[in-house]
Amino acid sequence: MNAHARFTHMQDGTQEDWAIIAADFSAYARQLPKRIVAHLKLLEGDFGGFPVDRLTHSLQTATRAWRDGRDEEYVVCALLHDIGDTLGSYNHPDIAAAILKPFVSAENLWMVEKHGIFQGYYFFHYLGMDRHLREQFSEHPQYRQTIEFCARYDAAAFDPAYETLPLSFFEPMMERLFARPKSSIYTAALEEHAPA
Ligand SMILES: [Fe+2]
Ligand SMILES: [Fe+2]
Repeated sequence: MNAHARFTHMQDGTQEDWAIIAADFSAYARQLPKRIVAHLKLLEGDFGGFPVDRLTHSLQTATRAWRDGRDEEYVVCALLHDIGDTLGSYNHPDIAAAILKPFVSAENLWMVEKHGIFQGYYFFHYLGMDRHLREQFSEHPQYRQTIEFCARYDAAAFDPAYETLPLSFFEPMMERLFARPKSSIYTAALEEHAPA
């Protein structure tokens, strides 16, 4: 059995306690890609009225981005963009953005975070909403990039006949991307405790 810290209130924590917790954290963090894969699988079989289920939609968005020559970071963003559908019924892009934030560029992060509003161009008007809501960002540097993400990959990923790549194809990309955060308040601590 793993060692445990001895404190019952954090105010009594010791260096020894935190050595135990830090060691455990590194091992746990390395399993992040596996937990993300497990969570993506929760999207399987949920169609929500769409022509393909949410996992297929996610895989197809990533497949289209990959076949279009996008780099791994972009492809993983495409794969995860709707991972928040299970818990973020009213703000699903925020969930993907929160997961991706330590690992991706500010540009890709913005694209993921705002994709819901941009994608709305294709359907908001059917729900009594303004399909041009994204125009509020017309001066933003990632305005074009996010329009393109929706037009080429996200909005196009509802085709049951398309040859969508399986989740296993993208797993090595996720292993690489989530191996180490680019930015996190824990980055320095992680470097210190990184396995040799
Ligand atoms: Fe979405
Ligand atoms: Fe989507």
